[in-house]
Amino acid sequence: MTSPRGMTRREAVAVSVAALGGAAVMTAGLPTAAAAAPRTTSPAGRPWQGEDRSAARRADALLAAMTFEEQVLLVTAVDPAEYAPLAHLGIPAMTRVDASDGLRGDTGVTAFPAPNALAATFDTDLAERYGDAIGTEARAKGWNVLLGPTLDIERNPRYGRQAESYGEDPLVGGAIGAAVTRGFQKNDVIAQVKHFTVYNQEEGRNSLDVVVSERALREVYYPAFEHTVRDGGALSVMGSYPKVNGVYACQDAHIIDALKNDLGLKGYLGTDYYPSADRVEAIKAGVDSAALMPDMPKDAFTDGRIPKERTRDAARRILYALFASGAYDNPLPDTPADVVTNAAHQELARTTGEGATVLLKNDAGLLPLSRKKTVAVIGPAGKDAVTGIEGSSYVDPGDFTTALEAVTAKAGAARVLFSQGSLGDVALTTIPGDVFTTPDGVPGLHAEFFAGEDLSGTPLATTTTANIDFRGGNPVGGLPSKWSARWTGRITPPATGLVRFSTLLSGAARIVVDGVTLLDESRFLWDSFFGPKESAIGGVTQLTGGRAVDITVEYSTRDAGWNGPSMRLGWQPRSLIPAAVAAAEKADVAVVFVNNYTGEGFDRDDLSLPGDQNQLIQAVAAANPDTVVVLNTSGPVLMPWLGKVKSVLQAWYQGAATGTGIANILYGDAEPGGRLPVTFPADEHQGPSVYTGGKADDANGTITYDEGIHVGYKWYDKHRAKPLFPFGHGLSYTSFSHDRLRVTSHGRGDQAAEVAVDVRNTGRRTGSDVVQVYVGHLPTKVDTPARTLAGFAKVTLEPGQRRRLTVTVTRRTLSYWDESRNTWVTPTGKVPVYVGRSVTDVEYAGTITVH
Ligand code: BGC
Repeated sequence: MTSPRGMTRREAVAVSVAALGGAAVMTAGLPTAAAAAPRTTSPAGRPWQGEDRSAARRADALLAAMTFEEQVLLVTAVDPAEYAPLAHLGIPAMTRVDASDGLRGDTGVTAFPAPNALAATFDTDLAERYGDAIGTEARAKGWNVLLGPTLDIERNPRYGRQAESYGEDPLVGGAIGAAVTRGFQKNDVIAQVKHFTVYNQEEGRNSLDVVVSERALREVYYPAFEHTVRDGGALSVMGSYPKVNGVYACQDAHIIDALKNDLGLKGYLGTDYYPSADRVEAIKAGVDSAALMPDMPKDAFTDGRIPKERTRDAARRILYALFASGAYDNPLPDTPADVVTNAAHQELARTTGEGATVLLKNDAGLLPLSRKKTVAVIGPAGKDAVTGIEGSSYVDPGDFTTALEAVTAKAGAARVLFSQGSLGDVALTTIPGDVFTTPDGVPGLHAEFFAGEDLSGTPLATTTTANIDFRGGNPVGGLPSKWSARWTGRITPPATGLVRFSTLLSGAARIVVDGVTLLDESRFLWDSFFGPKESAIGGVTQLTGGRAVDITVEYSTRDAGWNGPSMRLGWQPRSLIPAAVAAAEKADVAVVFVNNYTGEGFDRDDLSLPGDQNQLIQAVAAANPDTVVVLNTSGPVLMPWLGKVKSVLQAWYQGAATGTGIANILYGDAEPGGRLPVTFPADEHQGPSVYTGGKADDANGTITYDEGIHVGYKWYDKHRAKPLFPFGHGLSYTSFSHDRLRVTSHGRGDQAAEVAVDVRNTGRRTGSDVVQVYVGHLPTKVDTPARTLAGFAKVTLEPGQRRRLTVTVTRRTLSYWDESRNTWVTPTGKVPVYVGRSVTDVEYAGTITVH
């Protein structure tokens, strides 16, 4: 199906859920842009219209004035036009847009650095401005419900959507999430924070059963939501796709009850887009809005399946959110603006990118670079950089300045040698038929097709094909719905060197070239939705030009998703690495840009840089000892070359800031302000394991979170494992001292203690320090983490400048969830406190005495 805008089926439906503008109003509780405007009082007979009443009272009054049919409509309306019968009550159409890092699907907007980059800034003021800017753009574009921020915990860095939320730590997630939410909701819009809960990987996401303890839910997966609801004022939450202990999250009364009663959601619960949950059970369990469940059976509201009181509660919660946000009182513009980005927002994106960039390593102070040095810029440093996350949070960056352009502007064209080196994480061009020969010696590949998915039995059909390239359907007629195929023959590369193979894939594939297995994987999706690129997988091998080698390719419909069977085999037969090495040899310093492209619909198969990028770095570093690597990645990658390069920058996905911010860091016009919001593993096996069963949406798999509460750095402490880089790590261009550490216990209140420290910039450049306060084991026999982040504070200081910072430790941080009593318990006694620059670089500061 193609929509009017020529989109895929999924895009078309998503947009029908979230188009056009509406009308509206405002107030209560939250700071809003319109808060200073004169407040209206209730006109006679319409008591809900007076802004002088609380949102709760207004919601009650309006609910009482609505017919039951109108209440059902409010709960079930999907498209903006459906709200028309509610207009006489002043209820605006609710228009929804994904907004975790900008407005997905709109043009003329600001593409902000990815949310995990924002988390890396450890800067809540900045996060609020980031949210405010997105909220402002949303309102001007005609949206009053923002789907975001995303608060999913990064349980394992293979998570395809890891860049979309705030890392592995609930406290960081909650602090940044609350700040972004406050920023959003300053603009008379509703923030719908997502996804509640345990949505921590893509594989099998629509049906995955997550077996997780109540304690882990309370201590790891709920706190960011609670913080964002209570401190950020979030007025809506989106339920997640997976099952939690056997029940779909969107129909699980137990977790929904916790969300509303324990975590404090006064607004409404929606669902993720087209969840597998039973619609009627979902509403009965406490879902309040069916806006993203377009096929809701409406008669369930009147035939007794859904209690009337439940419908009224759902409608009331939506009304509450409309009043409390200001969306009711402040109509959206009649005509959405074309261009809503502006210089200030672009500048904010750049500042965020700079503040997010983490200096992982900097031997011999190679960075910042001198403008006088010749620099070889290598890798995808142009428009081919990855600017954002594929899927629901992809935002069009517009015409951004590339890293190559920005470096050239600083160093001068005469000092910059560009060499592509690697194409980065891309789909390669289809292999032409004339390089294949069948085992019988004719051009092409010998193909055998089998009934069933495991290549067994007698082939149903055999043929010769020029290449492997089929999409959304079978490559030959007469195949059953489940089939498999094998192509065999020989391939003759045109040149000697590293040859790169890749495939776009919906299904499972194995590729063996010259006896080397380059790929043995499955994917349910190839054409990343909303993102600009296709998502390929593959491998590399060394071949000799003109020498034919065996090639075997196998395909199975196993794991093919709604795209249908698809596979396109591509290659890059001539390596770009030798030219890059030559450039590196000529230059004073080599800066190698590398990337991966990730997002929604697939997890990473491993933590290696895709394609030939590790080989590129290794070859360049061998040619030039002064090599800098810039990681334009979604998160952690393994770094087999780490000991060979002098400097490494973690640059994440930076949206519109992609080139300018990075160049500013490279040349010291900005300082690398970021610290890691995630642990970087040293190998594939560190950290909690992920589900790797069937990958299709409906795989019906199970994953047990047997690490319990020990997620992120807590897993490393528990297993005494040494990561590649610890949580909180990030070097600076200057240096800092921490003195006069002091812990003050307060006894019984919510604010259990204060930790104070003097921070002094002891170096010669202005820079920022992120002071991190951790608490140790709690005074109990119950298993508690060796370190728990209790708070953080970021400060920018000039050379020699000193500032005393104070971090508050809450009583909750000193508590654990007791499953037998179903409550929080705060053990009394002494808790050690540490202050430092990462979870492993800490100094003992004293103890908190808990009464
Ligand atoms: C994603 C959500 C998103 C929704 C609407 C879903 O596939 O999981 O994050 O808000 O689509 O686009």
